[in-house]
Amino acid sequence: MFKQAFLDVPPIATADGAVTLPGSKSISNRVLLLAALCDGATEVHDLLASDDTHVMLEALKVLGCEVTSTGVNHVRVVGLNGRLRTQSAALFLGNAGTAMRPLTAALTLMASTQGGSFEVSGVPRMHERPIGDLVDALRALGGIVTDLGQPGYPPLRLGDGALHTLNLKDPIPVRGDVSSQFLTALLLALPLVAKDDVVIDVVGELISKPYIEITLKLLAQFGVHVKRDEWKRFTIPGSSRYQSPGKIHVEADASSASYFVALGALGSTDGVRINGVGLQSIQGDIRFIEAAALMGADVTGGDNHLTVKRGAWPLKAIDLDCNHIPDAAMTLAVMALYANGTTTLRNIASWRVKETDRLTAMATELRKLGATVEEGADYLSVTPPAQSADWRTAPIDTYDDHRIAMCFSLAALSPAKLPIRINEPHCVAKTYPDYFEALFSATTPHAGTVPVICIDGPTASGKGTLSQGVAKALGYAWLDSGALYRLVGVAAEMAGVSTHTDDLAQPDHAQRVAAIAADMAVRFEEDRVYLGETDVSEAIRTEAAGMGASRVSAVAPVRQALLELQHRFAKAPGLVADGRDMGTVIFPQAPLKVFLTASAQKRAERRYSQLISKGIPAKLDSLLADLQERDARDTNRAHAPLKPAEDAVLLDNTDMGIDESIQLVLSWWQGKQPKT
Ligand code: DC
Repeated sequence: MFKQAFLDVPPIATADGAVTLPGSKSISNRVLLLAALCDGATEVHDLLASDDTHVMLEALKVLGCEVTSTGVNHVRVVGLNGRLRTQSAALFLGNAGTAMRPLTAALTLMASTQGGSFEVSGVPRMHERPIGDLVDALRALGGIVTDLGQPGYPPLRLGDGALHTLNLKDPIPVRGDVSSQFLTALLLALPLVAKDDVVIDVVGELISKPYIEITLKLLAQFGVHVKRDEWKRFTIPGSSRYQSPGKIHVEADASSASYFVALGALGSTDGVRINGVGLQSIQGDIRFIEAAALMGADVTGGDNHLTVKRGAWPLKAIDLDCNHIPDAAMTLAVMALYANGTTTLRNIASWRVKETDRLTAMATELRKLGATVEEGADYLSVTPPAQSADWRTAPIDTYDDHRIAMCFSLAALSPAKLPIRINEPHCVAKTYPDYFEALFSATTPHAGTVPVICIDGPTASGKGTLSQGVAKALGYAWLDSGALYRLVGVAAEMAGVSTHTDDLAQPDHAQRVAAIAADMAVRFEEDRVYLGETDVSEAIRTEAAGMGASRVSAVAPVRQALLELQHRFAKAPGLVADGRDMGTVIFPQAPLKVFLTASAQKRAERRYSQLISKGIPAKLDSLLADLQERDARDTNRAHAPLKPAEDAVLLDNTDMGIDESIQLVLSWWQGKQPKT
């Protein structure tokens, strides 16, 4: 994910693509632990690749679990069947609460009954995250836990190497009003030692019930069916035994699905397909789709996917208690911009204590777009702009809150066809590092709205390096249009068609070369270029290929043949295009055009050191002569001659380093407002 000050999302015309969402963190780590404790091997598919799952996997390996990985999102875990394979180990668990709590419970029970001793620790912040309520519960039933730091916090020693008998006859009390993770930890660990029924009593009002639901459903998939009395008492049946389901798919994060459900409801006729989470999801936030359907979304789906398209349009305004879907409800607030009246989202006081005060933040940002918003203590009322002309666009502040960045990207579907600028877009990495890539892959912007930065200039002026640097900084695609002309020359040679100036002067011959240009099967992959199956990356970089390119590029039909191909490079979020006529002919509407120059002597020197560093023999004076010949032809040709666009900014980089010129162009770009 690129770290940039802002990202302009071009106005979206349609949304008909498919996305595969990243796995849910809570499900990933529960599944890994269950797979490690059970009998048999488990293939875990669609695992979330993140810091927290990484520490869990490493811990399982230290404990002697056989873990094999066949890709970032897939592992095979051979379970320990509840038996310790290593009697002692030190486990580092980073800042992963979803690893620390359940491993503490499971290892305490196994170590105390099988004579082991383990140390668990994490990063400094982990040593400030309380675990005392869980430790109390474990000690109450006879588990051995020693504080190694501040009592009630990690690091901890679990077991003391001796055998102990647990008291599982009495109900085990655990507090439920601080974190539901303590209950989850006990529920995951106790089946290992439950010879008779084991009862857990929740003390205090249980919070985050949907997460306990997830735990119970996963336990059932691993063969343990817990009996639940209200949200007060949980009974693990005697002789419960963990059994591998063989194969398990980690559900995608249901809250992340909300943006694509909304996208489908707002802009899809064929349907946005969402892979990784289905109608029967075990996550609480799946109920967002009921709310979206109330507003008019047409949602269908199966076990592991959803398809969403427009149903009612405009959307229907709703008045809804959103307490059960606090995170996903933020998406409803943005959907409300497209409704036929005032939408009120109630019982969302918890928004105030999240990553930021989400009630105030949402109200502030929605108003920027032209909505009328009432911010209550625990509710939000959103009245959309009265008509298309009342929509505004403005940079959206994201307050280091991933969900604000993601939900406001949906404003790009505005009827006014306005782009939307998201400040600090990298905050999405918290739960969905590739969110914007997924959004762009599933949507088509309105024609001509993708931002393009043109960098034109003479040969060896450093356009390529500058353009690549700017493209990388912004997460944009890069078009090296010179490479296309070089390819035409090389392709013609490969086909035995001459590129001599005299031959090209014949209209028939020019047409033959143009036909080759139109039919080229070009593929740019990373830094390689392919013509059909042939890797021509080196072949197009020779001086001879450069001269050939200069000759074919003077031929009008060849230029015409490459026009559409070049337009196709303009994809969201943006394009940096370098060449000779990017700003004058190919992308005349581009908001930023740079004309890059350097003295001929300096350019020849740069080209010289470039070639020498690649081990290609070169002579400075002949390079200078070639370069001047090409300059003359590129500048004097009749079609699309090399010249700055009228609105181009001139940049002479004779005495400027590459980083400096990249920063300069980026600062010009930051100064541009999105084109409306
Ligand atoms: O930038 P370069 O050296 O790779 O370009 C090779 C030739 O292609 C150059 O001499 C002129 C031509 N060209 C062009 O006419 N129009 C462009 N947009 C890019 C390159």
